[in-house]
Amino acid sequence: MSIPFIGSKKSIAKYIIDIIPPAENYYDLFGGGAAISEVALQAGKWSQVHYNEINTEIVNVIRWLSHDYDTAVQEITKLYLTPIDRQDFFRIKNKQERTPIDTLALIVYSFGNDRSTYLWCKEKEAYKIPIVKQLAADIIKNGVRFPDFKKYRINWLKENKIYRESNRIGTEIESLQSLSSLENLQRLERLQALERMESLERQHTLNITNLDYRDVEIKPDSIVYCDIPYYNAANKYGNDFNHDYFYNWVRNAEFPVYYSGYDTDAGGFDRVWEKEHTCKLAKKGGKELRRVECLYKGGRQ
Ligand SMILES: C[S@@+](CC[C@H](N)C(=O)[O-])C[C@H]1O[C@@H](n2cnc3c(N)ncnc32)[C@H](O)[C@@H]1O
Repeated sequence: MSIPFIGSKKSIAKYIIDIIPPAENYYDLFGGGAAISEVALQAGKWSQVHYNEINTEIVNVIRWLSHDYDTAVQEITKLYLTPIDRQDFFRIKNKQERTPIDTLALIVYSFGNDRSTYLWCKEKEAYKIPIVKQLAADIIKNGVRFPDFKKYRINWLKENKIYRESNRIGTEIESLQSLSSLENLQRLERLQALERMESLERQHTLNITNLDYRDVEIKPDSIVYCDIPYYNAANKYGNDFNHDYFYNWVRNAEFPVYYSGYDTDAGGFDRVWEKEHTCKLAKKGGKELRRVECLYKGGRQ
């Protein structure tokens, strides 16, 4: 199961996995939220899928999701149904040691999943939190199961005429605030019998490591995929990334390496796939930014 992540490849994971050839081992060396590893596991093209990521906090979440699946689903359900307000968010952010569920709370309730900026400005928080709480109460009342939350939320927002950024929102909030109390939230136990989400089933296990990409031992008969921090985003992951060093590493690799980058990538490797893509959070002159996502190939073929 993957998690929302800055620079997540969830929307294009299937294309990437289709292009990368089969082998005994598949390595996702810059694993992040594991969107690519998840699709790689489902694809059945590789006997072993190896996920690696340098950030220990993220690796702890991925380990927890893949080893303690049932608890994780229960905790994620609670997180979904109990919105985190600004105060809670910063309390969690300032903790010395965070549990995987703390990290997930920061991811889910931060802007662009950056784990740092609270999701809503103060003005929006005042009306978004009651809406989310009411939605949660209805989900519990109607016994909606975890896999159906998203579909239910979309219909619920339409039925209650709650539109993003709508001017009408003020009146909708008032009516929502007068709706039933939130005691229903205590009936979460009911959700404990959550049925497994098909996409979350573990058909194979993920081999997880927490290393710098250069330190991962690559077994014979392997294909390596690298979703490197892009030039303009390298600082968002909290570590400096040396692109020139990476290109050299690809050039000298004794195994095939595929890596993602924009069409502006300066590595000089063969481009094997590309797709235009809109970045919802990156804007230029008020307009969403369009970029060309590419897949490059290097290393020994
Ligand atoms: C673009 S994100 C990966 C997103 C991921 N493919 C997904 O879909 O969620 C890049 C990741 O590389 C990690 N990273 C940065 N430097 C690294 C290094 N030297 N070795 C391994 N991982 C690194 C970052 O922490 C970040 O999680």
